[in-house]
Amino acid sequence: MSNNIARHAMQTMGFSFSFTLCLMLSAFLYQSWALEEASYGSELELLTRELLESARKPEFFEWMRGLRRRIHEYPELGFEEHRTSELIRAELDSLGIPYKWPVAKTGVVASLGSGGKPVFALRADMDALPLQELVEWEHKSKIDGKMHACGHDSHVAMLIGAAKLLQSKRDELKGTVKLVFQPGEEGYAGAYHMLQEGSLDDINAILSIHVYPAFPTGVIASSPGPILAGAWDYTATIQGKGGHAATPHKTRDPVIAAVFSILALQQIVSRETDPLESRVLTVGFINGGRAHNVIPDSLKFGGSFRSLTTEGLYYIQERIKEVVETQAAVHGCSATVDFKEETPMPHPVTVNDEALYEHVKKVGEIMLGKPNVQLFPVTMGAEDFSFFSQKTAAAIFVVGTKNETLKSDQHLHSPYFFIDEEALPIGAALHAAAAISYLDNHAAETHKKHGFVRNEEL
Ligand SMILES: *[C@@H]1O[C@H](CO)[C@@H](O)[C@H](O)[C@H]1NC(C)=O
Ligand SMILES: [Zn+2]
Ligand SMILES: [Zn+2]
Repeated sequence: MSNNIARHAMQTMGFSFSFTLCLMLSAFLYQSWALEEASYGSELELLTRELLESARKPEFFEWMRGLRRRIHEYPELGFEEHRTSELIRAELDSLGIPYKWPVAKTGVVASLGSGGKPVFALRADMDALPLQELVEWEHKSKIDGKMHACGHDSHVAMLIGAAKLLQSKRDELKGTVKLVFQPGEEGYAGAYHMLQEGSLDDINAILSIHVYPAFPTGVIASSPGPILAGAWDYTATIQGKGGHAATPHKTRDPVIAAVFSILALQQIVSRETDPLESRVLTVGFINGGRAHNVIPDSLKFGGSFRSLTTEGLYYIQERIKEVVETQAAVHGCSATVDFKEETPMPHPVTVNDEALYEHVKKVGEIMLGKPNVQLFPVTMGAEDFSFFSQKTAAAIFVVGTKNETLKSDQHLHSPYFFIDEEALPIGAALHAAAAISYLDNHAAETHKKHGFVRNEEL
């Protein structure tokens, strides 16, 4: 009995000794982890503060704002961004940053750092919209019918700003940063065409920034996973047999076939889609007939369909074809549906890589404060940045530009669109900080698995 007690006591002591040791060890481990985290945290804090302060210095800010305003005055449409491209190259030249050009006609890919892995890319789109600017201000568009109403002028200025910030730290870069100035975002799939040319085959991750008037200046936002829809266009042609309005029995009326088709198309989302899945199908135009007393020979209609999954997009595509062809047949007509595969080509879903999203979110929280990094509600809008997200780890963040005083709260693509230029230094600093810290975090990893890097590139 007493032996048992003694043994038990010894066991307990042993247990409590190892338990204590374990506690001490984990406390020690925790402490060193916490120290590492803290020093990493404060390092990142120093870095982000320094970058933002540099970008906000009056001289730096005015230079960036000047670039944005010059681009704003001379907006250029997709694949015509010659002047913008020239401005970018001139700035890169004066910063002493090498670049490749042309990439997809007007695009520019600049490189900074070691030239080796890891490779972090930053992307800015360059094109404007065929829209008449209605804002009366000193730097209003000088080109009638063209306007930077999606803020791509500011994206370019932010990325040139980031180039300057990164160039001042070029010796500390633990890998390569590629600056991607992309043409033709507004329906031209410029991203796809840049990727086709191969100069971005080696990128490990890519970040894009878009200005957004629903958030105030000083706030950035995004969300992990699918964030923008995959989008595709269609045009249906209904072929009937025309004739006199008074003798419909001698015709095959394409108007009736089109109307039934359009109504039937509405059921694809409402009756065939899981109510918890996001899909949309819109008819944007109907085109046909010219006279009150004539039944036309043929008619066209078309629109856009969207989904947050690739399968969803292909499902809708297949059903549009079936529904329109069948409905046309019911009314004695025939139909063809053209899914434009070239311009504009279908855009995949934009998916934010979770780890990259977390990385940029953390950088943003340290730079701007936690409450200023918000969740971006998923929308059914589309972006050709999706082609990058299909290829590699990608994340898109929006930078708020709303300011009551400036009334900069108009929607993207509005002729009254206006931005608060105070957002420019935020975008530039976020780009630079995200890139530098990504390389810091991934440099060791890349070295460890160096042997596999080549295979991954395939
Ligand atoms: C809004 O813009 C005005 C004018 O540029 C500026 O003075 C003010 O600080 C801005 N407000 C915010 C919240 O950024
Ligand atoms: Zn746009
Ligand atoms: Zn845009």
